[in-house]
Amino acid sequence: MTRARSRFVCGTCGEVYLRWEGQCRACGAWNSLVETIVREQPRSTRASTLASPSIATALSEIASEVVPRWPTGISELDRVLGGGFVPGSVVLLGGEPGIGKSTLLLQAAAGVIGSPAEGFHVLYASGEESAPQIHLRAARLGYTSGPAGARIRVAAEADVGRIVDLARAAEPRLLLVDSIQTISVDELDGPAGSVGQVREATLRLMELAKGEGIGVVLVGHVTKDGTLAGPKALEHLVDVVLTLEGDRYGALRLLRASKNRFGSTDEVGVFEMREAGLAEVADPGRAFLVEHETPAPGSVVAPTLEGSRPLLVEVQALVARSAYGPPRRTVSGADANRVSILVAVLGRRAGVALGDQDVFVNLAGGLSVEEPGLDLAVALALASALRDRPVDPRTVAIGEVGLLGELRSVTGLDRRLREASRLGFERAIVPRPRGGAAPPAVSGMEVATVGTLREAIAEVLGATR
Ligand code: TYD
Ligand code: MG
Repeated sequence: MTRARSRFVCGTCGEVYLRWEGQCRACGAWNSLVETIVREQPRSTRASTLASPSIATALSEIASEVVPRWPTGISELDRVLGGGFVPGSVVLLGGEPGIGKSTLLLQAAAGVIGSPAEGFHVLYASGEESAPQIHLRAARLGYTSGPAGARIRVAAEADVGRIVDLARAAEPRLLLVDSIQTISVDELDGPAGSVGQVREATLRLMELAKGEGIGVVLVGHVTKDGTLAGPKALEHLVDVVLTLEGDRYGALRLLRASKNRFGSTDEVGVFEMREAGLAEVADPGRAFLVEHETPAPGSVVAPTLEGSRPLLVEVQALVARSAYGPPRRTVSGADANRVSILVAVLGRRAGVALGDQDVFVNLAGGLSVEEPGLDLAVALALASALRDRPVDPRTVAIGEVGLLGELRSVTGLDRRLREASRLGFERAIVPRPRGGAAPPAVSGMEVATVGTLREAIAEVLGATR
Protein backbone atom coordinates (compact mmCIF):
# COMPACT_ATOMS: atom_id res chain seq x y z
CA MET A 1 0.00 0.00 0.00
CA THR A 2 1.10 3.54 -0.57
CA ARG A 3 1.14 6.01 2.31
CA ALA A 4 0.28 9.65 1.71
CA ARG A 5 2.52 12.37 3.11
CA SER A 6 2.80 15.97 2.13
CA ARG A 7 5.62 18.14 0.87
CA PHE A 8 5.82 21.74 -0.25
CA VAL A 9 6.53 22.24 -3.92
CA CYS A 10 7.47 25.53 -5.56
CA GLY A 11 4.83 26.37 -8.15
CA THR A 12 7.32 28.33 -10.18
CA CYS A 13 10.27 25.99 -10.46
CA GLY A 14 9.05 22.72 -8.93
CA GLU A 15 11.67 22.60 -6.12
CA VAL A 16 10.51 20.45 -3.18
CA TYR A 17 10.75 21.45 0.54
CA LEU A 18 9.87 19.70 3.78
CA ARG A 19 8.39 22.80 5.42
CA TRP A 20 6.59 25.85 4.18
CA GLU A 21 8.84 28.82 3.45
CA GLY A 22 7.93 32.30 2.28
CA GLN A 23 10.40 32.35 -0.57
CA CYS A 24 11.68 29.54 -2.78
CA ARG A 25 15.42 29.22 -2.24
CA ALA A 26 15.91 27.74 -5.71
CA CYS A 27 14.23 30.33 -7.92
CA GLY A 28 13.56 33.20 -5.52
CA ALA A 29 9.81 33.31 -6.13
CA TRP A 30 7.75 34.59 -3.19
CA ASN A 31 4.82 32.72 -1.74
CA SER A 32 5.03 29.98 -4.35
CA LEU A 33 5.27 26.84 -2.18
CA VAL A 34 2.25 24.58 -2.33
CA GLU A 35 1.37 21.57 -0.24
CA THR A 36 1.43 18.42 -2.31
CA ILE A 37 0.83 14.74 -1.67
CA VAL A 38 3.94 12.60 -1.92
CA ARG A 39 3.57 8.86 -2.28
CA GLU A 40 6.15 6.75 -0.54
CA GLN A 41 7.46 3.72 -2.36
CA PRO A 42 6.26 0.52 -0.67
CA ARG A 43 9.13 -1.02 1.31
CA SER A 44 9.21 -4.24 -0.67
CA THR A 45 10.02 -2.55 -4.00
CA ARG A 46 12.61 -0.37 -2.27
CA ALA A 47 14.35 -3.46 -0.97
CA SER A 48 14.31 -5.08 -4.39
CA THR A 49 15.91 -2.05 -6.06
CA LEU A 50 18.67 -2.27 -3.49
CA ALA A 51 19.15 -5.97 -4.13
CA SER A 52 19.79 -5.51 -7.86
CA PRO A 53 22.46 -2.87 -8.38
CA SER A 54 22.14 -0.50 -11.32
CA ILE A 55 24.16 -1.31 -14.37
CA ALA A 56 25.64 1.02 -16.93
CA THR A 57 25.53 -0.02 -20.57
CA ALA A 58 27.87 1.07 -23.34
CA LEU A 59 26.19 3.29 -25.90
CA SER A 60 27.08 0.82 -28.63
CA GLU A 61 25.23 -1.96 -26.82
CA ILE A 62 21.96 -0.15 -26.27
CA ALA A 63 19.37 -1.34 -28.75
CA SER A 64 17.64 1.57 -30.43
CA GLU A 65 14.03 1.84 -29.52
CA VAL A 66 11.30 2.23 -32.08
CA VAL A 67 8.65 4.49 -30.59
CA PRO A 68 5.19 3.25 -31.53
CA ARG A 69 2.90 5.97 -32.82
CA TRP A 70 -0.76 6.56 -33.31
CA PRO A 71 -1.04 9.01 -36.16
CA THR A 72 -4.07 11.28 -36.20
CA GLY A 73 -4.11 11.59 -39.98
CA ILE A 74 -4.11 15.37 -39.50
CA SER A 75 -0.74 16.02 -41.09
CA GLU A 76 -0.14 19.40 -39.42
CA LEU A 77 -0.76 17.86 -35.98
CA ASP A 78 1.25 14.72 -36.70
CA ARG A 79 4.09 16.90 -37.91
CA VAL A 80 4.26 18.73 -34.58
CA LEU A 81 3.84 15.55 -32.52
CA GLY A 82 6.64 13.90 -34.50
CA GLY A 83 4.42 11.33 -36.23
CA GLY A 84 1.43 10.90 -33.92
CA PHE A 85 0.59 10.26 -30.26
CA VAL A 86 2.92 7.96 -28.36
CA PRO A 87 1.23 5.29 -26.19
CA GLY A 88 1.77 5.96 -22.49
CA SER A 89 2.75 9.58 -23.04
CA VAL A 90 1.19 12.76 -21.71
CA VAL A 91 0.65 15.77 -23.93
CA LEU A 92 -0.24 19.20 -22.60
CA LEU A 93 -2.11 21.40 -25.06
CA GLY A 94 -2.12 25.06 -24.06
CA GLY A 95 -3.84 28.05 -25.57
CA GLU A 96 -6.00 31.06 -24.83
CA PRO A 97 -9.72 30.54 -24.30
CA GLY A 98 -11.62 30.25 -27.56
CA ILE A 99 -8.58 29.53 -29.69
CA GLY A 100 -9.76 26.01 -30.64
CA LYS A 101 -8.22 23.57 -28.14
CA SER A 102 -11.40 21.55 -27.59
CA THR A 103 -11.98 21.48 -31.34
CA LEU A 104 -8.47 20.18 -31.98
CA LEU A 105 -8.94 17.52 -29.28
CA LEU A 106 -12.10 16.19 -30.91
CA GLN A 107 -10.50 16.18 -34.33
CA ALA A 108 -7.45 14.36 -32.99
CA ALA A 109 -9.77 11.85 -31.29
CA ALA A 110 -11.63 11.17 -34.51
CA GLY A 111 -8.32 10.74 -36.32
CA VAL A 112 -6.84 8.34 -33.80
CA ILE A 113 -9.71 5.87 -33.57
CA GLY A 114 -8.72 4.67 -37.04
CA SER A 115 -10.76 2.30 -39.17
CA PRO A 116 -13.86 0.56 -37.75
CA ALA A 117 -12.03 -2.78 -37.91
CA GLU A 118 -9.48 -1.69 -35.33
CA GLY A 119 -12.04 -1.02 -32.62
CA PHE A 120 -10.15 1.70 -30.76
CA HIS A 121 -11.99 4.32 -28.81
CA VAL A 122 -11.31 7.57 -27.02
CA LEU A 123 -12.50 8.88 -23.66
CA TYR A 124 -13.18 12.60 -23.49
CA ALA A 125 -13.41 13.81 -19.89
CA SER A 126 -14.53 17.37 -19.48
CA GLY A 127 -14.76 19.39 -16.31
CA GLU A 128 -15.40 22.43 -18.41
CA GLU A 129 -18.46 21.63 -20.49
CA SER A 130 -21.53 19.42 -20.15
CA ALA A 131 -22.06 16.42 -22.42
CA PRO A 132 -24.69 18.29 -24.52
CA GLN A 133 -22.23 21.16 -25.05
CA ILE A 134 -19.59 18.75 -26.27
CA HIS A 135 -22.22 17.09 -28.45
CA LEU A 136 -22.96 20.46 -30.03
CA ARG A 137 -19.34 20.94 -31.05
CA ALA A 138 -19.07 17.35 -32.24
CA ALA A 139 -22.17 17.85 -34.39
CA ARG A 140 -20.53 20.82 -36.04
CA LEU A 141 -17.53 18.65 -36.85
CA GLY A 142 -19.70 15.77 -38.11
CA TYR A 143 -18.75 13.33 -35.36
CA THR A 144 -22.16 12.51 -33.92
CA SER A 145 -22.65 9.50 -36.20
CA GLY A 146 -20.38 6.95 -37.88
CA PRO A 147 -17.26 5.54 -36.23
CA ALA A 148 -16.43 8.80 -34.40
CA GLY A 149 -19.94 9.03 -33.00
CA ALA A 150 -19.73 5.49 -31.66
CA ARG A 151 -16.20 5.56 -30.38
CA ILE A 152 -15.66 8.91 -28.78
CA ARG A 153 -17.15 8.56 -25.32
CA VAL A 154 -17.82 11.65 -23.28
CA ALA A 155 -17.84 12.05 -19.51
CA ALA A 156 -18.60 15.37 -17.84
CA GLU A 157 -16.41 14.65 -14.85
CA ALA A 158 -14.09 16.83 -12.80
CA ASP A 159 -12.75 14.39 -10.22
CA VAL A 160 -9.44 12.87 -11.19
CA GLY A 161 -10.03 9.66 -9.24
CA ARG A 162 -13.26 9.01 -11.10
CA ILE A 163 -11.67 9.85 -14.45
CA VAL A 164 -8.87 7.37 -13.76
CA ASP A 165 -11.41 4.68 -12.77
CA LEU A 166 -13.42 5.32 -15.92
CA ALA A 167 -10.30 5.02 -18.05
CA ARG A 168 -9.14 1.84 -16.36
CA ALA A 169 -12.53 0.28 -16.96
CA ALA A 170 -13.00 1.49 -20.52
CA GLU A 171 -9.38 1.08 -21.71
CA PRO A 172 -9.44 3.85 -24.30
CA ARG A 173 -6.57 4.47 -26.66
CA LEU A 174 -6.57 8.16 -25.82
CA LEU A 175 -7.84 9.97 -22.76
CA LEU A 176 -8.59 13.65 -23.33
CA VAL A 177 -8.91 15.88 -20.29
CA ASP A 178 -10.44 19.31 -20.84
CA SER A 179 -9.11 21.16 -18.94
CA ILE A 180 -6.57 20.28 -16.27
CA GLN A 181 -7.45 23.47 -14.37
CA THR A 182 -11.01 22.25 -13.80
CA ILE A 183 -9.99 18.83 -12.49
CA SER A 184 -9.65 18.29 -8.76
CA VAL A 185 -8.15 15.71 -6.45
CA ASP A 186 -10.33 14.56 -3.59
CA GLU A 187 -7.52 14.37 -1.03
CA LEU A 188 -6.40 17.98 -1.42
CA ASP A 189 -8.28 20.91 0.03
CA GLY A 190 -7.33 23.66 -2.40
CA PRO A 191 -9.72 24.74 -5.16
CA ALA A 192 -9.54 23.20 -8.66
CA GLY A 193 -6.96 25.06 -10.70
CA SER A 194 -4.67 25.74 -7.74
CA VAL A 195 -1.07 24.73 -8.17
CA GLY A 196 -1.30 21.75 -5.81
CA GLN A 197 -4.45 20.43 -7.44
CA VAL A 198 -3.22 20.79 -11.00
CA ARG A 199 0.08 19.15 -10.20
CA GLU A 200 -1.40 16.23 -8.28
CA ALA A 201 -4.10 15.62 -10.92
CA THR A 202 -1.42 15.58 -13.60
CA LEU A 203 0.67 13.09 -11.62
CA ARG A 204 -2.31 10.75 -11.28
CA LEU A 205 -3.04 10.95 -14.99
CA MET A 206 0.61 10.31 -15.81
CA GLU A 207 0.58 7.23 -13.63
CA LEU A 208 -2.47 6.04 -15.56
CA ALA A 209 -0.80 6.77 -18.90
CA LYS A 210 2.40 4.89 -18.06
CA GLY A 211 0.61 2.02 -16.34
CA GLU A 212 -2.00 1.34 -18.99
CA GLY A 213 -0.22 2.56 -22.11
CA ILE A 214 -2.94 5.12 -22.73
CA GLY A 215 -2.13 8.36 -24.51
CA VAL A 216 -3.28 11.28 -22.37
CA VAL A 217 -3.89 14.80 -23.65
CA LEU A 218 -4.44 17.56 -21.11
CA VAL A 219 -5.81 20.93 -22.08
CA GLY A 220 -4.20 23.78 -20.16
CA HIS A 221 -5.32 27.38 -20.09
CA VAL A 222 -2.77 30.07 -20.67
CA THR A 223 -2.77 33.36 -18.85
CA LYS A 224 -2.62 36.79 -20.46
CA ASP A 225 1.18 36.83 -20.65
CA GLY A 226 1.10 33.60 -22.67
CA THR A 227 2.41 31.21 -20.03
CA LEU A 228 0.53 28.10 -19.02
CA ALA A 229 -1.55 28.85 -15.96
CA GLY A 230 -0.69 26.81 -12.91
CA PRO A 231 2.69 25.40 -12.10
CA LYS A 232 5.66 25.59 -14.36
CA ALA A 233 6.29 22.15 -12.89
CA LEU A 234 3.51 20.84 -15.12
CA GLU A 235 5.66 21.46 -18.16
CA HIS A 236 8.50 19.49 -16.56
CA LEU A 237 6.20 16.56 -15.81
CA VAL A 238 4.56 15.96 -19.16
CA ASP A 239 6.25 14.52 -22.24
CA VAL A 240 5.04 17.00 -24.82
CA VAL A 241 3.96 20.63 -24.48
CA LEU A 242 1.98 22.05 -27.39
CA THR A 243 0.54 25.52 -27.73
CA LEU A 244 -2.13 26.65 -30.09
CA GLU A 245 -1.83 30.33 -30.86
CA GLY A 246 -3.21 32.92 -33.21
CA ASP A 247 -5.62 35.78 -33.29
CA ARG A 248 -8.93 34.63 -31.79
CA TYR A 249 -10.83 36.86 -34.16
CA GLY A 250 -8.86 35.78 -37.20
CA ALA A 251 -8.89 32.33 -38.72
CA LEU A 252 -5.23 31.29 -38.64
CA ARG A 253 -3.83 29.10 -35.90
CA LEU A 254 -0.28 28.03 -35.26
CA LEU A 255 0.51 24.86 -33.32
CA ARG A 256 3.97 24.72 -31.77
CA ALA A 257 5.78 22.22 -29.58
CA SER A 258 7.86 23.90 -26.88
CA LYS A 259 8.84 20.48 -25.53
CA ASN A 260 8.74 17.06 -27.15
CA ARG A 261 10.42 13.99 -25.73
CA PHE A 262 9.60 12.07 -28.89
CA GLY A 263 10.27 14.56 -31.63
CA SER A 264 11.56 17.91 -32.70
CA THR A 265 10.44 21.15 -31.08
CA ASP A 266 11.11 23.01 -34.27
CA GLU A 267 8.09 22.02 -36.28
CA VAL A 268 5.00 24.18 -36.46
CA GLY A 269 1.57 23.26 -37.75
CA VAL A 270 -0.55 25.83 -39.51
CA PHE A 271 -4.35 25.61 -39.39
CA GLU A 272 -7.30 27.67 -40.39
CA MET A 273 -10.48 27.72 -38.24
CA ARG A 274 -13.39 27.06 -40.57
CA GLU A 275 -17.10 26.43 -40.21
CA ALA A 276 -16.44 22.74 -39.63
CA GLY A 277 -13.30 22.73 -37.55
CA LEU A 278 -9.60 23.32 -38.01
CA ALA A 279 -8.43 22.74 -41.56
CA GLU A 280 -4.86 22.30 -42.72
CA VAL A 281 -3.53 25.27 -44.65
CA ALA A 282 -2.54 24.46 -48.20
CA ASP A 283 0.26 27.01 -48.54
CA PRO A 284 1.53 27.90 -45.05
CA GLY A 285 4.39 30.00 -46.44
CA ARG A 286 1.96 32.67 -47.57
CA ALA A 287 -0.76 32.12 -44.96
CA PHE A 288 0.23 35.12 -42.85
CA LEU A 289 0.63 37.56 -45.71
CA VAL A 290 -2.05 40.13 -46.42
CA GLU A 291 -2.81 41.48 -49.86
CA HIS A 292 -2.66 45.24 -50.26
CA GLU A 293 -4.33 47.20 -53.03
CA THR A 294 -1.62 49.84 -52.91
CA PRO A 295 1.79 49.88 -51.22
CA ALA A 296 1.33 51.08 -47.64
CA PRO A 297 3.88 53.00 -45.57
CA GLY A 298 4.86 51.06 -42.46
CA SER A 299 4.54 47.61 -44.02
CA VAL A 300 7.55 45.32 -44.50
CA VAL A 301 7.56 41.58 -45.17
CA ALA A 302 10.09 39.35 -43.41
CA PRO A 303 10.93 35.77 -44.45
CA THR A 304 10.95 34.14 -41.00
CA LEU A 305 11.80 30.54 -40.28
CA GLU A 306 9.73 28.44 -37.86
CA GLY A 307 11.78 25.32 -37.43
CA SER A 308 12.29 23.97 -40.89
CA ARG A 309 9.33 25.87 -42.29
CA PRO A 310 9.71 29.31 -43.86
CA LEU A 311 6.78 31.63 -43.12
CA LEU A 312 6.50 35.07 -44.65
CA VAL A 313 5.07 37.59 -42.22
CA GLU A 314 4.10 41.18 -42.63
CA VAL A 315 5.29 43.64 -40.01
CA GLN A 316 3.00 46.65 -39.72
CA ALA A 317 4.11 49.81 -37.96
CA LEU A 318 2.34 53.05 -37.23
CA VAL A 319 3.85 56.11 -35.63
CA ALA A 320 2.02 59.20 -34.44
CA ARG A 321 3.23 62.21 -32.48
CA SER A 322 2.47 61.66 -28.78
CA ALA A 323 -0.34 63.93 -27.64
CA TYR A 324 0.59 63.92 -23.96
CA GLY A 325 2.59 61.95 -21.46
CA PRO A 326 5.44 59.60 -22.27
CA PRO A 327 5.24 58.12 -25.77
CA ARG A 328 3.46 54.77 -26.02
CA ARG A 329 5.04 51.57 -27.35
CA THR A 330 2.34 49.07 -28.24
CA VAL A 331 3.53 45.79 -29.70
CA SER A 332 1.65 42.68 -30.70
CA GLY A 333 3.29 39.55 -32.06
CA ALA A 334 6.87 40.79 -31.70
CA ASP A 335 9.06 41.18 -28.62
CA ALA A 336 8.20 44.53 -27.01
CA ASN A 337 11.65 44.89 -25.45
CA ARG A 338 13.34 44.43 -28.78
CA VAL A 339 11.05 47.03 -30.32
CA SER A 340 12.11 49.51 -27.61
CA ILE A 341 15.75 48.77 -28.36
CA LEU A 342 15.14 49.20 -32.09
CA VAL A 343 13.46 52.56 -31.45
CA ALA A 344 16.60 53.67 -29.58
CA VAL A 345 18.99 52.30 -32.21
CA LEU A 346 16.97 53.94 -35.00
CA GLY A 347 17.23 57.28 -33.22
CA ARG A 348 20.91 57.10 -32.32
CA ARG A 349 22.42 55.21 -35.26
CA ALA A 350 20.14 55.70 -38.22
CA GLY A 351 18.69 59.20 -37.95
CA VAL A 352 15.11 58.01 -37.46
CA ALA A 353 13.91 59.97 -34.43
CA LEU A 354 10.94 58.32 -32.74
CA GLY A 355 11.49 59.77 -29.25
CA ASP A 356 8.38 61.94 -29.35
CA GLN A 357 6.24 59.48 -31.26
CA ASP A 358 3.75 56.85 -30.16
CA VAL A 359 4.84 53.59 -31.78
CA PHE A 360 2.58 50.68 -32.70
CA VAL A 361 3.95 47.44 -34.11
CA ASN A 362 1.84 44.49 -35.14
CA LEU A 363 2.39 41.23 -37.01
CA ALA A 364 -0.40 40.53 -39.48
CA GLY A 365 -2.46 37.37 -39.00
CA GLY A 366 -2.01 37.11 -35.22
CA LEU A 367 1.34 35.37 -35.57
CA SER A 368 3.98 35.86 -32.93
CA VAL A 369 7.61 35.64 -33.88
CA GLU A 370 10.49 35.52 -31.44
CA GLU A 371 13.48 35.24 -33.69
CA PRO A 372 15.82 38.25 -33.65
CA GLY A 373 15.97 38.10 -37.45
CA LEU A 374 12.68 39.99 -37.44
CA ASP A 375 14.54 43.14 -36.22
CA LEU A 376 15.39 44.50 -39.64
CA ALA A 377 11.82 44.32 -40.92
CA VAL A 378 10.52 45.99 -37.74
CA ALA A 379 13.11 48.77 -37.97
CA LEU A 380 12.42 49.35 -41.66
CA ALA A 381 8.67 49.37 -41.04
CA LEU A 382 9.14 52.03 -38.34
CA ALA A 383 11.36 54.14 -40.60
CA SER A 384 8.87 53.76 -43.45
CA ALA A 385 6.00 54.77 -41.17
CA LEU A 386 7.83 57.83 -39.85
CA ARG A 387 8.79 59.03 -43.32
CA ASP A 388 5.36 58.06 -44.64
CA ARG A 389 7.03 56.44 -47.60
CA PRO A 390 6.17 52.84 -48.59
CA VAL A 391 8.72 50.08 -49.03
CA ASP A 392 8.36 48.33 -52.38
CA PRO A 393 5.87 45.50 -51.67
CA ARG A 394 7.96 42.99 -53.63
CA THR A 395 10.83 43.44 -51.15
CA VAL A 396 11.57 41.29 -48.10
CA ALA A 397 14.03 42.07 -45.30
CA ILE A 398 15.62 39.83 -42.68
CA GLY A 399 18.44 40.31 -40.19
CA GLU A 400 19.23 40.95 -36.56
CA VAL A 401 20.05 44.54 -35.58
CA GLY A 402 22.84 45.15 -33.03
CA LEU A 403 23.08 48.07 -30.61
CA LEU A 404 25.57 49.83 -32.86
CA GLY A 405 23.15 49.66 -35.76
CA GLU A 406 25.13 46.82 -37.35
CA LEU A 407 23.34 43.91 -38.97
CA ARG A 408 23.89 40.25 -38.21
CA SER A 409 23.06 37.26 -40.36
CA VAL A 410 20.36 34.72 -39.72
CA THR A 411 20.39 30.96 -40.24
CA GLY A 412 18.75 29.31 -43.21
CA LEU A 413 18.90 32.40 -45.40
CA ASP A 414 18.86 30.33 -48.54
CA ARG A 415 15.65 28.54 -47.61
CA ARG A 416 13.95 31.78 -46.59
CA LEU A 417 14.84 33.53 -49.83
CA ARG A 418 13.75 30.61 -51.98
CA GLU A 419 10.34 30.63 -50.30
CA ALA A 420 10.07 34.42 -50.75
CA SER A 421 10.95 34.04 -54.42
CA ARG A 422 8.37 31.27 -54.84
CA LEU A 423 5.73 33.60 -53.43
CA GLY A 424 6.58 36.32 -55.93
CA PHE A 425 9.00 38.56 -54.01
CA GLU A 426 11.78 39.95 -56.17
CA ARG A 427 14.18 41.71 -53.85
CA ALA A 428 15.72 40.89 -50.48
CA ILE A 429 17.59 43.11 -48.04
CA VAL A 430 19.95 40.92 -46.01
CA PRO A 431 22.97 41.46 -43.73
CA ARG A 432 26.33 41.44 -45.49
CA PRO A 433 27.89 38.00 -44.87
CA ARG A 434 31.08 38.03 -42.79
CA GLY A 435 34.46 37.59 -44.40
CA GLY A 436 33.31 38.72 -47.83
CA ALA A 437 31.31 35.54 -48.54
CA ALA A 438 28.71 35.78 -51.28
CA PRO A 439 25.02 35.88 -50.32
CA PRO A 440 22.92 32.94 -51.53
CA ALA A 441 21.98 33.15 -55.19
CA VAL A 442 18.24 32.59 -55.62
CA SER A 443 16.77 32.68 -59.09
CA GLY A 444 14.40 35.58 -59.69
CA MET A 445 15.57 37.32 -56.51
CA GLU A 446 17.84 40.34 -56.36
CA VAL A 447 19.75 40.16 -53.07
CA ALA A 448 21.02 43.45 -51.63
CA THR A 449 23.55 43.05 -48.83
CA VAL A 450 23.89 45.83 -46.27
CA GLY A 451 26.19 46.28 -43.30
CA THR A 452 24.19 48.69 -41.16
CA LEU A 453 20.65 49.73 -40.44
CA ARG A 454 21.36 53.13 -41.98
CA GLU A 455 22.40 51.49 -45.25
CA ALA A 456 19.34 49.26 -45.20
CA ILE A 457 17.06 52.29 -44.80
CA ALA A 458 18.77 54.08 -47.67
CA GLU A 459 18.37 50.94 -49.75
CA VAL A 460 14.60 50.66 -49.31
CA LEU A 461 13.49 54.26 -48.72
CA GLY A 462 16.17 56.25 -50.52
CA ALA A 463 18.43 58.87 -48.97
CA THR A 464 17.21 61.00 -46.06
CA ARG A 465 15.28 64.06 -47.07
P1 TYD B 1 -13.01 25.82 -28.89
O1 TYD B 1 -12.44 24.57 -29.43
O2 TYD B 1 -14.21 25.71 -28.03
O3 TYD B 1 -11.89 26.66 -28.15
P2 TYD B 1 -11.15 26.41 -26.74
O4 TYD B 1 -11.42 25.02 -26.32
O5 TYD B 1 -9.70 26.68 -27.02
O6 TYD B 1 -11.69 27.41 -25.79
O7 TYD B 1 -13.34 26.71 -30.17
C1 TYD B 1 -13.57 28.06 -30.02
C2 TYD B 1 -14.04 28.79 -31.25
O8 TYD B 1 -13.92 28.12 -32.47
C3 TYD B 1 -15.50 29.13 -31.08
O9 TYD B 1 -15.56 30.54 -30.94
C4 TYD B 1 -16.17 28.71 -32.33
C5 TYD B 1 -15.06 28.37 -33.26
N1 TYD B 1 -15.36 27.20 -34.09
C6 TYD B 1 -15.39 27.33 -35.47
O10 TYD B 1 -15.22 28.41 -36.03
N2 TYD B 1 -15.62 26.22 -36.23
C7 TYD B 1 -15.84 25.00 -35.68
O11 TYD B 1 -16.05 24.02 -36.40
C8 TYD B 1 -15.81 24.89 -34.24
C9 TYD B 1 -16.04 23.56 -33.58
C10 TYD B 1 -15.55 26.00 -33.49
MG1 MG C 1 -12.43 24.35 -24.64
